[in-house]
Amino acid sequence: MLKKTRIAVLVSGGGTNLQALIDAQNAGIIKSGQIELVISNNADAYALTRAQNAGIDTAVVSKKELGGDQRVFEETLIEVLMSKGIELIILAGFMCILSASFTSKYPKRIINVHPSLIPSFCGKGFYGLHVHEAALEYGVKVTGATVHFVNEIPDGGEIILQKAVEIKDGDTPEILQKRVMEEAEWKILPQAAEMVSAELAEYI
Ligand code: GAR
Repeated sequence: MLKKTRIAVLVSGGGTNLQALIDAQNAGIIKSGQIELVISNNADAYALTRAQNAGIDTAVVSKKELGGDQRVFEETLIEVLMSKGIELIILAGFMCILSASFTSKYPKRIINVHPSLIPSFCGKGFYGLHVHEAALEYGVKVTGATVHFVNEIPDGGEIILQKAVEIKDGDTPEILQKRVMEEAEWKILPQAAEMVSAELAEYI
């Protein structure tokens, strides 16, 4: 029998990547892992509603409400993750940088989706719509998305999957963001989640 990898998804906003993970789990594309928990740093994130609609437990861990201290924020996250026996953390639009003290506790057990082809348009300051603004401003003709392991370097961990997406004349950051999500992020994030879950899952 397969003991599935226990997954937590960390979110901050709309949660379309979380939805892609939930849909992939329901469709059997993610079969070696189970989403046990969704954590948001923002109590108003629509992603929390998506989790609740899918019957997944949720938690809010807000750095601001914890006094703005990174160490306390990360210790609280770890407490919540440990209380649920989480083995794999998926950052799906989680807009907080995690320190080395956090990432070193989960080596090759944290993955992130980033909306560009790393090493382009990544690192500090490159998140959400800003990434697409930068790609359009530079004038690249191809962009895409990357799923990578998370280490102490923002967007610097080992790459797991990438998918290229064409840039078209007349694209705005919003149009490009939607195309990158539809053609790349929502596909490669569930695929990578299954690949890493399968590596971590145990047969008992
Ligand atoms: C996604 O495009 C994700 O790749 C990006 O934020 C968006 C979240 O959307 N993440 C980053 O930029 C992280 N550096 P979602 O909440 O609808 O999944």
